[in-house]
Amino acid sequence: MNHYKITLLKGDGIGPEIVNQAVKVLDKTAEKFDFTVSYDEALLGGCAIDATGVPLPEETVAKCKASDSVLLGAVGGPKWDNQPGNNRPEAGLLGIRGALGLFANLRPSVIFGPLKSASPIKDDIIGDNMDIMIVRELTGGIYFGERGRREVDGQPAAWDTEQYTVAEVERIARVAFDLAMKRGKRVTSVDKANVLESSRLWRETVIRVAQDYPEVTLNHMYVDNCAMQLVRNPKQFDVIVTSNIFGDILSDEASMIAGSIGMLASASLSGGKLGLYEPIHGSAPDIAGQNIANPLATILSVAMMLRYSLDQQEAAEAIEAAVAKVLETYRTPDIYEEGMKKVGCDEMGDLVCAQL
Ligand code: IPM
Ligand code: MG
Repeated sequence: MNHYKITLLKGDGIGPEIVNQAVKVLDKTAEKFDFTVSYDEALLGGCAIDATGVPLPEETVAKCKASDSVLLGAVGGPKWDNQPGNNRPEAGLLGIRGALGLFANLRPSVIFGPLKSASPIKDDIIGDNMDIMIVRELTGGIYFGERGRREVDGQPAAWDTEQYTVAEVERIARVAFDLAMKRGKRVTSVDKANVLESSRLWRETVIRVAQDYPEVTLNHMYVDNCAMQLVRNPKQFDVIVTSNIFGDILSDEASMIAGSIGMLASASLSGGKLGLYEPIHGSAPDIAGQNIANPLATILSVAMMLRYSLDQQEAAEAIEAAVAKVLETYRTPDIYEEGMKKVGCDEMGDLVCAQL
């Protein structure tokens, strides 16, 4: 029987409660699909600062490296807002992405049928099967570039740098093209090549990589236009590949099209088996501990883990189908609509388990 070692990084705010629901669902899935899972917890973010003084303790990196996969809740909160930039909870998140070499961030934006009316976008614009995969470069660009403060014209100033190497662009482009081959065979590369030199290198490189994928149709889009096209006609997209910062922004936008940021899962991959899976939303400190958070993005992150790291396709599909079924009747407050039954975080986890 296959056995998997999972490291849980519950994090801050609603992190612990949503991860607990996802664990329930993973255990239930394991039972049903004949594999076993063991868990180890490690600290990341604000809780790590409180316990150890730093957002990413060495021990956390070691535990993650020794596991088959990592499940993360969310990090951050007002309590740590006064930490210096390099010691904020978010620095822990960037640190773990870097330390595990998680260069490819997959953020699918899929609309579950029953949630169509929760989307702020009109039904006819969304269509029946909007399914966008945003492939965000995750360990390079301005997030990891040099930055600093200096004086300019007698004024205090600050600077950040966006830089990409050809190798960094090539490997993320390949992830996008490989995914497109298993989907609609279309890739949109998003950049700002009309202004940024790093974008011009990005575009040249993506065009070169595309030669190895003659079946895939490649087009290029400036990021501002893409932001507009996502609401104007989201159906036109299959796979979007883009830089760290553009992917950060566009994936929040795409999540809203799918009804709620509380629904979207993500996978961060290293090229090997080890991946880190997390909802794309934040730690929502304002609703933490009230049992009203939506655990579905984390539960769907478990489905992605089963698909991309643990090679359990059927189990992944079973979770996704269970979520779709539950949504026909039950909703957490963020996606509540009249006529539905309102449930809390815990209950939502139980309902998905029962459906499995
Ligand atoms: C995300 C988040 C993070 C990011 C923050 C919390 C550092 O917004 O995963 O999208 O910007 O990458
Ligand atoms: Mg973000």
